[in-house]
Amino acid sequence: MSGEWPVVAIDGPSGSGKGTVAGLLAKRLGWNLLDSGALYRLLAFAAGNHGIDLTNEEALKVLAAHLDVQFTHGKGGQGQHIILEGEEVTDVIRTEQVGAGASQVAALPAVRDALLQRQRAFLEAPGLVADGRDMGTVVFPDAPLKIFLTASAEERARRRYLQLKNKGIDSDQAQLAEEIRTRDERDSQRAVAPLKPADGAILLDSTDLGIEEVLERLYAEVARLGLTE
Ligand code: DC
Repeated sequence: MSGEWPVVAIDGPSGSGKGTVAGLLAKRLGWNLLDSGALYRLLAFAAGNHGIDLTNEEALKVLAAHLDVQFTHGKGGQGQHIILEGEEVTDVIRTEQVGAGASQVAALPAVRDALLQRQRAFLEAPGLVADGRDMGTVVFPDAPLKIFLTASAEERARRRYLQLKNKGIDSDQAQLAEEIRTRDERDSQRAVAPLKPADGAILLDSTDLGIEEVLERLYAEVARLGLTE
């Protein structure tokens, strides 16, 4: 449960902008940040390192329970750094391939269960902004503010394309849109903790909104509820 500190739960499909906006909101509020997708990505990546098959639920459950990971902040308030078993993996876990693996392990009930307490442990003073697929439905059902952020698959593919281009990586936008649809389908159709808006969640479509506009709207909701007091 959410305990005595407030939680802003932000759920939605990949590319909706929730990761960026969650990071900015946490920074603005001076709250902690949980990037829950990173945990599933880390597990898929670690499984690769240990030669564990992504369908081996028992072995993945054990790995998830013992995952040696640290989230640290860079010098001068730069972005978060992620260290897995002593190795910096901040960027390597962001590939489409690791994302697809994450989506696969995330469909396994024992894995979700093993990662539940680890996620709830991020809730510390003075509050938490949690980003994922089931923050408002499963992990923090008592969160006073729940947001479901969406955008069209085409717009999400366009954002991903530009992101990759900025990193000097060439990609095919139509193929990205197809991969996004496949991942959406798996994440929303799975039996455990499927991607869906939580009861009472505020639905926000970011297709035609800039990240600053989304941030302002979320911040206004936090202020309206008096969560910063
Ligand atoms: O947000 P992301 O793209 O980093 O997430 C990677 C995968 O992890 C995504 O396909 C779905 C899964 N995931 C999940 O099932 N539950 C969460 N709370 C976060 C991510």
